[in-house]
Amino acid sequence: MRKKIAAANWKMNTTFQEAENLLRTITQNSPLLDANIQVVFAVPFPYLQMASSMVAETPHYNIAAQNCYHQKSGAYTGEVSAAMLHSIGVHYCIVGHSERRVPFGESNEQLAAKINLLFEYGIVPIFCCGEPLLIREAGTENSFVENQLKESLFHLPATQLAQLIIAYEPIWAIGTGKTATTDQAQAMHAFIRTVLGKKYGTAVAEETSLIYGGSVKASNANELFDAADVDGALVGGASLQAEEFKAIIAALK
Ligand code: 13P
Repeated sequence: MRKKIAAANWKMNTTFQEAENLLRTITQNSPLLDANIQVVFAVPFPYLQMASSMVAETPHYNIAAQNCYHQKSGAYTGEVSAAMLHSIGVHYCIVGHSERRVPFGESNEQLAAKINLLFEYGIVPIFCCGEPLLIREAGTENSFVENQLKESLFHLPATQLAQLIIAYEPIWAIGTGKTATTDQAQAMHAFIRTVLGKKYGTAVAEETSLIYGGSVKASNANELFDAADVDGALVGGASLQAEEFKAIIAALK
């Protein structure tokens, strides 16, 4: 079933104590959530175990890694594998964030390899796609995103495709305070669903959760979530403020 998702991407922020406090403040006394709502916290690697044990008793809350390596194991100093994440009980992992694609040169092919490894270890990939400003200005954002989807996802069987979460994050809207308008977000999400539908059929496309990322805050979440094809958000800056993120969770309704 298509889920509604509020995912926090803490990026490279918080100390251990700050992370513990933030997670406690958000999850303590939280209102009852509908069965189809998932809240995911993508925390820095050193806090994964602490965070996993803090949410262990709360079925709606899950922990994600922000990245993993595209090789299974071996001489890759400083990298973290899908197998390692699995061994400490992590159930989600962000793949292909633009903050990794651009500065670390991650290719669509490497991302496909990460996704395969994550599925092998039963971890749900949160696959990020989205165009830079120049592509948006040239009006070629649809073909740019379609190519990202094709090269990283279209080798998957339908059963796996329907399990993953796709986050559309236009690069020009990340950390800039410049959110895509609801119409822009809806148009791209509808386009992504059409692309998925052509390859996998409408039923699979309808089942796949598509979330939006880029300057989502409590003040714009309601309107974004009202859009027919926006199933939630991947939130950066605002997810570091407990009250903001709680309000974004509440906006999923
Ligand atoms: P901001 O919400 O800070 O724009 O970041 C979005 C993002 O990159 C989430 O992954």
